[in-house]
Amino acid sequence: MMSKTWLVGGAAALAVAAMTSGAWAAGPAQAPKSDKKVWMSEGSERDEALKLKPNLENGKDIYEVCSACHMPEGWGLVDGTFPQVAGQHRTVLIKQLEDIREGNRDNPTMYPFALPSEIGGAQAVTDVTDYIARLPMNPKNGVGPGDDLEHGKKLYADNCTRCHGETGEGDAAKFFPRIHGQHYAYLVRQYQWIKEGKRRNANPDMVKQIQQFTDKDTKAVLDYVSRLKPPKELTAEPGWKNPDFK
Ligand code: HEC
Ligand code: HEC
Repeated sequence: MMSKTWLVGGAAALAVAAMTSGAWAAGPAQAPKSDKKVWMSEGSERDEALKLKPNLENGKDIYEVCSACHMPEGWGLVDGTFPQVAGQHRTVLIKQLEDIREGNRDNPTMYPFALPSEIGGAQAVTDVTDYIARLPMNPKNGVGPGDDLEHGKKLYADNCTRCHGETGEGDAAKFFPRIHGQHYAYLVRQYQWIKEGKRRNANPDMVKQIQQFTDKDTKAVLDYVSRLKPPKELTAEPGWKNPDFK
């Protein structure tokens, strides 16, 4: 049995090892390999998790494991290794977490820590996502170079607002993620993977929409997105520390 302390202390180190070696040499569990593209899986635990009543206390307990990589505040890292998850729509968090657990979205770094054997079944997903969705967002996320913002603004208005909204707020009911407040480096990686089909759970309409984007377009639009501000009431004061994990 691994102790919880070991798990939390070791998660980030293991993550780095996994990322540099590109494989889970010593990992406890490896995700099944697949090329199948599934945006909205059928008969998924997701539907159950969406319906259950969340237990916030249990969500906090589970989040301790997640905090090793996503940080106690849920703000991830500016270099994009770990995304901000704080303040994301709960529906989106549930979908992404279940996609990762079910092998529809490849995330070898996180996979072993997100499994039912580690955190529990649908109820655990309901609980931990409730906790994460309530965390206030990072007031100082990583942004792009800022040298092509007019171009980015136009691309955003023409190609992204219909799903991600005027200010990057997404749409909880449709599982469209908030993209404002997210680290630029993470946005670039995900966008590239969505475009190339490496992120297999991507929305097929988005994949189509962005096929013509050049690298210059991609950088410009995501630089613009990284500067869109989440609403004030969802954002933390600068320097906020999560008192639950002191
Ligand atoms: C060992 C490090 C690690 C741990 C522990 C971890 N994650 Fe992650 N998580 C990641 C990485 C890396 C990504 C981004 C993967 C990528 O680039 O596609 C990620 C992505 C996510 C995403 C998708 C975010 C998005 O914007 O689409 C969610 C949701 C998430 N994690 C939730 C959790 C939860 C809940 C836990 C705890 C049960 C957890 N993670 C534990 C490393 C980790
Ligand atoms: C047809 C709707 C649609 C359009 C148009 C669209 N997106 Fe998306 N986007 C989505 C959905 C849905 C997801 C989540 C995919 C999934 O379920 O895994 C997503 C995911 C993303 C992500 C990854 C977010 C994360 O947290 O991992 C980025 C970045 C993104 N979109 C940027 C854009 C930009 C920039 C544009 C315009 C150039 C755009 N999208 C156009 C629906 C759309």
